[in-house]
Amino acid sequence: MPTDASLNQFLDFLRFGSISTDSKYKSQMLDCAGWLGHKLTAIGLKVVHHETPGHPILVARGPRKEGRPTVLIYGHYDVQPVDPLDLWHRPPFNPGIENGIVTARGASDNKGQIFAHILGVEQALKEKGDLPVNLILLIEGEEEIGSPSLTPFLAEQRGELACDVVAISDSSMIAPGHPTFTYGLRGLAAIEVTVTGPDHDLHSGIFGGAVENPATVLARLIAGLHNDKLKVDLDGFYDDVKPLAAWERKSWKKLPLQEQGLLGMTGAPALRGEKGFSPLERIWARPTAEVNGIGGGYQGEGTKTVLPSTAMAKFTFRLVPDQDPGKILEIVQDYFRRNAPPSVKLNLVPGHCAEPYLVDPKAGFGAAAQKALGRIFPGQKPALIREGGSIPIVAEFKNILQADTLLLGFALPDCNAHSPNETFPLAHLDLGAKLNRYLLEEIAGS
Ligand code: BES
Ligand code: MN
Repeated sequence: MPTDASLNQFLDFLRFGSISTDSKYKSQMLDCAGWLGHKLTAIGLKVVHHETPGHPILVARGPRKEGRPTVLIYGHYDVQPVDPLDLWHRPPFNPGIENGIVTARGASDNKGQIFAHILGVEQALKEKGDLPVNLILLIEGEEEIGSPSLTPFLAEQRGELACDVVAISDSSMIAPGHPTFTYGLRGLAAIEVTVTGPDHDLHSGIFGGAVENPATVLARLIAGLHNDKLKVDLDGFYDDVKPLAAWERKSWKKLPLQEQGLLGMTGAPALRGEKGFSPLERIWARPTAEVNGIGGGYQGEGTKTVLPSTAMAKFTFRLVPDQDPGKILEIVQDYFRRNAPPSVKLNLVPGHCAEPYLVDPKAGFGAAAQKALGRIFPGQKPALIREGGSIPIVAEFKNILQADTLLLGFALPDCNAHSPNETFPLAHLDLGAKLNRYLLEEIAGS
């Protein structure tokens, strides 16, 4: 278990309502970045606080010495919105601990995981006055909105941020006690679609039947995104999809997370998805089209006989190597434009994008990372997995800094990231701090 002082600091970190997407939380974002800057300075790092058009970026450095590798550890202090609030068992920014598990928004994604790295660095500096590598800690506040400021920042600071490898803990272990090395992430393309019919809500008895209903039009457009095999039914959508390797299909079948586990975690009555692929294959290596939000018309109590003026939906498409988010957004916009009837107006607003990521798990510092994981769980070989989530900046680390990323997450798949009652096991603060120390040692020694 972490010391009382570390634990209290972690709880303080969780008390900031650092929701990047909502401007009402702007001052809490600033306070959170300020708090983090103090913490990083207090443990002996040189910290620079960079203002951006959005939320601040922090860059902290350890002692620099010639001839040793430079490791950039990345994390984010921003969190997802908390709604629906009434499903939380406690206020999301008033963390509480029960049975060694802390509940708060951001507990695992990503405050717990980045704080564990900070604790590892703090311990090493306290004991040795130095780290085994030249360390850059890069912590931003816009990951959950697609890292719009960080990408240009990387390009601007490419000299300052030059590194041999990047390490990120912002993903999950396959199951408790199973060391996990993630070598792939899905990408993302977001779009918001509004369908407008009449210029105001109408009486559905006076006009219904003659004026088309935008909610019905939107529903048909959404339904047309998939065929009956649950494949995305858009021309060209799968053109650049890399097939799964035979070794991946084989080894994923043996992992300790399969259909029953997914059913238990989600509470869904049954799993369903693209035919011909297992649930893990669908999540990690196949692209999807998701409706993230949908609305239009009367949502209040009882009935209201109205023909709504507009209906809207927010979509994200999860992408896999080698799909290109820009190209996918073109395909998607083309689909909506070609299929919307002339009885409605269509407004398409493309949103943020992330490229998918895939590396050879054995290449570069992959072996060093897997050794570090093996030291935490002696005698166990790390599971080699991909994940279905996205970390937009990872592809940019490769594109701009030419650095590969080691993904060493230690959240659990049932930590409720992005859901009500997000959690993080406190024991994983120690686990992550240890992993940080072993990782830097193994990278220095390899
Ligand atoms: N930590 C997640 C990414 C993640 C989730 C990686 C699960 C592996 C497994 C990250 O904070 C996140 O949620 N990213 C967003 C990015 C998006 C908003 C651009 C995501 O994946 O939805
Ligand atoms: Mn997230």
